[in-house]
Amino acid sequence: MAQTRSRDVPISAMGLLFSSPLGVAAGVDRNGEKLAALDLAGFGHIELGTIAIGETLTIGLRPQGLRIGVNFGSLRPGMDEAVITDYSAALRQVYGSSDYLCANLTSPRHGRDGNSDGVDALICRLRDVRDLCASETGRRAPLLIKVDGGSPGDPLPKAILEARRQTLDGLVLVCESAPRIAAIKRHVGTMTLISVGGVRTARQARERIDAGAALVQAHKAFVDGKLRSVSGNGRMFDDRRIRAKRVPRGKPEDGDALSPFAPRTGSDPSSVLDGVLESAAFQEVGSRPAMTTSTLSTITCPSCGHRATEMMPVDACQTSYECKGCGIVLRPKPGRDCIFCSYGDVACPPVQARRAASAEAGTCCGACGG
Ligand SMILES: Cc1cc2nc3c(=O)[nH]c(=O)nc-3n(C[C@H](O)[C@H](O)[C@H](O)COP(=O)(O)O)c2cc1C
Repeated sequence: MAQTRSRDVPISAMGLLFSSPLGVAAGVDRNGEKLAALDLAGFGHIELGTIAIGETLTIGLRPQGLRIGVNFGSLRPGMDEAVITDYSAALRQVYGSSDYLCANLTSPRHGRDGNSDGVDALICRLRDVRDLCASETGRRAPLLIKVDGGSPGDPLPKAILEARRQTLDGLVLVCESAPRIAAIKRHVGTMTLISVGGVRTARQARERIDAGAALVQAHKAFVDGKLRSVSGNGRMFDDRRIRAKRVPRGKPEDGDALSPFAPRTGSDPSSVLDGVLESAAFQEVGSRPAMTTSTLSTITCPSCGHRATEMMPVDACQTSYECKGCGIVLRPKPGRDCIFCSYGDVACPPVQARRAASAEAGTCCGACGG
């Protein structure tokens, strides 16, 4: 049964809101250099990475409308204790930059997949490290694994069974078979599925959603040229191949009920992917003002004066903070529920968003109750 969903209605998954079900898979923008362009194109999320320990992300100002997942792994082969330690350290390293975390288990180059010996120990450890980071920061980032879903009839990969046992938040599922996606969804129940692999048309995106995926990612759509002209400076430019494919509105193409270039305002999710492609190919999106949010704030301890610059959560208020100078645990000032809005030089992202919208300064975000 096809779901209908307006592009303007955010999708709720893993406790986060996504402006669109369509995101960009890992490998397209490994370090976060193209965030503004991808946001302006209309994507709901980008999965950065794969990042290994010591490799850096270059996220500075982050667009408001784009969720950021960070896919992480290890440069070592196999799945021994050293590799598990690498993954754990990488998780810690990217925690503050991620709306969600994704441990990559699709790495044939390193001899790792969802059935590797030790994958259950890895998932168990990562769950513990994530829980520790959550208690340290006051923000719980969803933890997923990226895993190959296999083919219909195959036994489920060990990693999926363990992810369910450890109550991870979801799977980035590499799988092109809608029946297989549906079968895995039945097994994992409330865990979120992000479907990736072979998504090039609106019909394919819709099939994945109908099979139980909450979100869909594209990668080869870029490689094939549809979106390869995404540039790092926040602008997008026409692509000849897209232009050549342009068809009159309403004319079906690739078996889709909707034209790839139908208006984006419809409520059918099949318009989402093509709407984004249309946006990338035909809109001079650089003319739209980029909405950027600062995610760094320098906290000054009211007790000892120690200053520390911290990464802020993008969608929630942080309600406690331990001073790195004197160790005192700061709580929000009266009337504020957020330590950044109380002691930081930059207000929290929800407040920034509200200020940008209302041009009202000095108030706390709605979520803070200030
Ligand atoms: C050139 C290239 C680089 C990729 N790099 C990564 C990566 O670093 N980490 C990862 O998890 N997946 C990576 N992938 C896999 C993609 O994220 C995606 O899972 C895969 O390409 C299937 O989606 P598609 O059919 O839309 O291309 C890469 C794929 C390609 C083609």
